[in-house]
Amino acid sequence: MKTILVTGGLGFIGSHTVVELQNSGFKVIVIDNLSNSRIEVLDSITKITGTKPNFHKVDLRNKKEVKNFFDLNIIDGIIHFAAFKAVGESVEKPLEYYENNIGSLVYLLQEMRDRNIDNFIFSSSCTVYGQADKLPITENAPIKPAESPYGNTKQIGEEIIKDSCNAHKLNAIALRYFNPIGAHESIEIGELPLGIPQNLIPYVTQTAAGIRSQLSIFGDDYETPDGTAIRDYIHVVDLAKAHIAALKRLLNKDNENNFEYYNIGTGKGSSVLEIITAFQNSTGKILNYKTVERRTGDVTAAYADTTIANEKLNWKTEKTLEEALRSAWNWQEKQSNNHS
Ligand code: WQD
Repeated sequence: MKTILVTGGLGFIGSHTVVELQNSGFKVIVIDNLSNSRIEVLDSITKITGTKPNFHKVDLRNKKEVKNFFDLNIIDGIIHFAAFKAVGESVEKPLEYYENNIGSLVYLLQEMRDRNIDNFIFSSSCTVYGQADKLPITENAPIKPAESPYGNTKQIGEEIIKDSCNAHKLNAIALRYFNPIGAHESIEIGELPLGIPQNLIPYVTQTAAGIRSQLSIFGDDYETPDGTAIRDYIHVVDLAKAHIAALKRLLNKDNENNFEYYNIGTGKGSSVLEIITAFQNSTGKILNYKTVERRTGDVTAAYADTTIANEKLNWKTEKTLEEALRSAWNWQEKQSNNHS
């Protein structure tokens, strides 16, 4: 049984990936510094799969802690989620973002080099493309100057991994996520935004739950059919399964290059207004919303061309947008009931 380290494994995408790893027969070790996640997620994962992942509270910014962990654990592969990921916050605190997102990555890669750990899956983002010139976005779309320090850490991160692969017999795959949404069908795990949600779907579900009084649509003057911005919203379980597919590609040595990258989305774009309509139709909830100014740094439209990922990873999305939105609402209702 292969042992896979999942950094940031108690986070939103990390926890869903841990569940799919265990379902696929892997032994999982989770490290997390709990800066943006809750230890209770460990029990939630255990409830779903019946197997409690090993957990170590490790701060990847601490080189000694990282070395210590690898002295004590034999690892066959790493899926690296641990990073700060709020676009707006990264503009206010760039140095924290570079220290955490880049520093941690370098320390991990140094340990992999020194201990001949070979397989690495990196959590990247469609943000690396900025506003792509052509839609849907393919993997050979040009990488545009990053619109935020957060996006820059993803671009720089991919470069660092590519150079490490070339120098140190490392095999890696970067998955460029589009917009992950929803929750596991058990509603034992889901998105846990701390504070006011930055992302659309948690804001939608908190508005429907009465936690937020009104949803603001950031701009309706975009060059899109209904004027609101378009994104590719992918069910987080489909996204989690893409990580298993990528990991198997490396473990089976099916990769054609030592560094590969794939767009992970549904291939379908939905506007904010279409999301609101789909949410209302899927849940029967009526949303209170208004239109305000555009949000700085937002692109007009981004959705994936998934041809390469489908073919090379032998993976495709299985869940519909409606299922994703319904699962997000079911998860929100459970949170609201737990806190009432
Ligand atoms: C989606 C759409 C907003 C909130 C970001 C990161 C990306 C990834 C996913 C980490 C946009 C609109 C939003 C609201 C709104 N994160 N919106 N009202 O910005 O596409 O992507 O999150 O990997 O890297 O950039 O996602 O959910 O914030 O916004 O109208 O209250 O919803 O303008 O068009 P985004 P989002």
